[in-house]
Amino acid sequence: MKEIIVAPSILSADFANLEAEINRIKMCGAKWVHVDVMDGHFVPNITIGVPVVKSIRQVTDLILDVHLMIENPERYIEAFSFAGADIITVHYETVKEGKLRDISKQIKHYKKKAGLAIKPRTDINLVKEYLKDFDLFLPMTVEPGFSGQRFMDVGIEKLKELNLSDYPELIIEADGGVNNETAKICKDLGVTVLVTGNYVFKSEDMKQAIENLRENNGV
Ligand code: DX5
Ligand code: ZN
Repeated sequence: MKEIIVAPSILSADFANLEAEINRIKMCGAKWVHVDVMDGHFVPNITIGVPVVKSIRQVTDLILDVHLMIENPERYIEAFSFAGADIITVHYETVKEGKLRDISKQIKHYKKKAGLAIKPRTDINLVKEYLKDFDLFLPMTVEPGFSGQRFMDVGIEKLKELNLSDYPELIIEADGGVNNETAKICKDLGVTVLVTGNYVFKSEDMKQAIENLRENNGV
């Protein structure tokens, strides 16, 4: 059984106290921190960018999992790499035809892990042939753009169309609406990294909430 990793999304954190929030995540047992970068074009929302990732890198040794919800991601990979990202995930929908392999090479050139995300209603058959080029696959379980949305089964059920044993090294991540109930659905389908915003940040006991996600407590 692979270890389940919980990656709290700082989109639900107190941005005025980011260092303290990241230390709190770590104290509560998280190994990764998920950073949602949004540009107001690919998604309607605008969040944070390279300087914030650079500042976070200086105050934590947690794995920095950077989720790019931006147009033209290839223009920013170098900057996010130098800022200290460990994993850089791009959206299939933002990559120009025929450029997916180039983008994974570009990310790996900086010795970073390369992730590929798809929106909940994007056909998984469009990306199957590229999954061997990536280290991480993220079938989104909400429409990207905002935290606090309801989990969409349609996003994760497409994993049933994949034979995961064909991709033994691929890390499968879920992101959006993950709580102690929906986490179980994800894990049953092969997910090992659970991104979570509201569920952990709005809980009264973050440590317990993280443990619930890992252990299926309360389901
Ligand atoms: C949505 C983001 C998610 C989101 C998760 O576009 O990619 O990471 O912040 O937040 P919750 O867990 O509240 O859905
Ligand atoms: Zn995300």
